[in-house]
Amino acid sequence: MLPNTSICRLVTLSLLALFAPSAFATNAKVLIYSATEDFRHDSIPTAIQALQSKGPSFDIQFETTEDKAQFTDQYLARYDALLFLDNTGEVLDDLGKAALQKYLDLGGNFIGIHAASDCLRNTTFYGHEVGAFFDYHPALQNATVDVIDSSHPSTSMLPAQWHVQDEMYNFKSDPRTIGATIILSANESSYIDTGTRLNQGTPHPTAWFQERGAGAESNGTAGRSFYTSLGHLNETWQDELFLAHVFGGITWTLQSNTTLAFNTSAEVGNPSVSVDPTSSSSSTTGTSTSSSSAVISVPPIDVLPLKFMVLSIIAATFFPWLSSFYLGRFVLTAYF
Ligand SMILES: *[C@@H]1O[C@H](CO)[C@@H](O)[C@H](O)[C@H]1NC(C)=O
Ligand SMILES: *[C@@H]1O[C@H](CO)[C@@H](O)[C@H](O)[C@H]1NC(C)=O
Ligand SMILES: *[C@@H]1O[C@H](CO)[C@@H](O)[C@H](O)[C@H]1NC(C)=O
Ligand SMILES: *[C@@H]1O[C@H](CO)[C@@H](O)[C@H](O)[C@H]1NC(C)=O
Ligand SMILES: *[C@@H]1O[C@H](CO)[C@@H](O)[C@H](O)[C@H]1NC(C)=O
Ligand SMILES: *[C@@H]1O[C@H](CO)[C@@H](O)[C@H](O)[C@H]1NC(C)=O
Ligand SMILES: *[C@@H]1O[C@H](CO)[C@@H](O)[C@H](O)[C@H]1NC(C)=O
Repeated sequence: MLPNTSICRLVTLSLLALFAPSAFATNAKVLIYSATEDFRHDSIPTAIQALQSKGPSFDIQFETTEDKAQFTDQYLARYDALLFLDNTGEVLDDLGKAALQKYLDLGGNFIGIHAASDCLRNTTFYGHEVGAFFDYHPALQNATVDVIDSSHPSTSMLPAQWHVQDEMYNFKSDPRTIGATIILSANESSYIDTGTRLNQGTPHPTAWFQERGAGAESNGTAGRSFYTSLGHLNETWQDELFLAHVFGGITWTLQSNTTLAFNTSAEVGNPSVSVDPTSSSSSTTGTSTSSSSAVISVPPIDVLPLKFMVLSIIAATFFPWLSSFYLGRFVLTAYF
């Protein structure tokens, strides 16, 4: 006969095996690409750490690479989105660019942050996918950024006039010309810039989105694209408001209906999404054209804590010795 503690351990492990994997399953897979050939931001590790530590609470699994050789059709195809972080210079070779083009043509989604607009400057499709290439920035200083469109998930939590300490980027072209919608705009009278700006359109573009990323070829299936030019300092990546802005952009991008999460005939996206029977995306195994695919597209941000609340109640009722464990995890999940 097993001693009591062994039985407890056995039951605990069985319950964990049953519930933990589904509850903690990360549905969306995002590849952070932070390779640099020119200037290297020393905030890159801070940014990656911030993204990875908050990822699980948004049901997002971030993987990272700086290896341009990873840019192959097969490797990229597993990701729901690529996140270009502070890249500078020629960070992809011709094979890598071709793989990126194919990924975008197959409905792959794109997120660009800060210096992501300062790489692959001769690659027209990349510039279109970001929205515009970086031109120059005045010295880092305090500035005010105006919310142009507060209906977007990346700006809805921001004050109408957002005070930041960051680099106010100027761009070589107007992202609106390739179809982008500007959501944040630098207030040019709130900081000093003595340079000569090119025509980047008015109001000054600072963050934007594209429902159909313009980097995809016209015969392809364009996914979504989101870009924010903010994010220079370590301190920025430790600021909850900035992180809410970034995660709003990422989760919006992931709700494109062009990846496996929403489209069973899609050729890119985390393949485990459509086979995970416990995930909230399981209904996508139905038709890819049903309107319900758009409804389930919201990442289950609130589902996770709920699952734990239910588990905690069950545990407290039937296994009092487990309740503190599940309550603890519930609290951790809900608040961190
Ligand atoms: C930013 O953080 C990184 C470590 O993540 C550190 O190496 C770097 O020195 C920091 N930069 C500044 C300006 O403090
Ligand atoms: C990009 O194009 C410019 C102008 O044609 C050229 O001088 C430069 O060498 C090119 N850069 C790369 C990395 O191909
Ligand atoms: C910049 O703003 C920060 C708060 O975000 C403030 O602490 C700091 O004093 C400001 N610096 C200047 C030069 O105004
Ligand atoms: C822009 O900044 C200036 C100077 O700080 C301020 O007076 C003005 O109200 C701001 N305008 C907007 C639209 O935020
Ligand atoms: C789109 O057309 C290009 C040639 O212009 C071709 O190389 C590419 O394979 C096509 N892509 C798709 C997704 O059909
Ligand atoms: C689903 O994926 C297929 C294959 O990439 C594509 O042709 C189709 O347009 C996608 N459907 C939607 C709604 O994006
Ligand atoms: C996919 O998303 C696009 C853009 O939001 C929309 O026009 C299209 O109707 C959607 N397709 C499906 C099948 O939901």
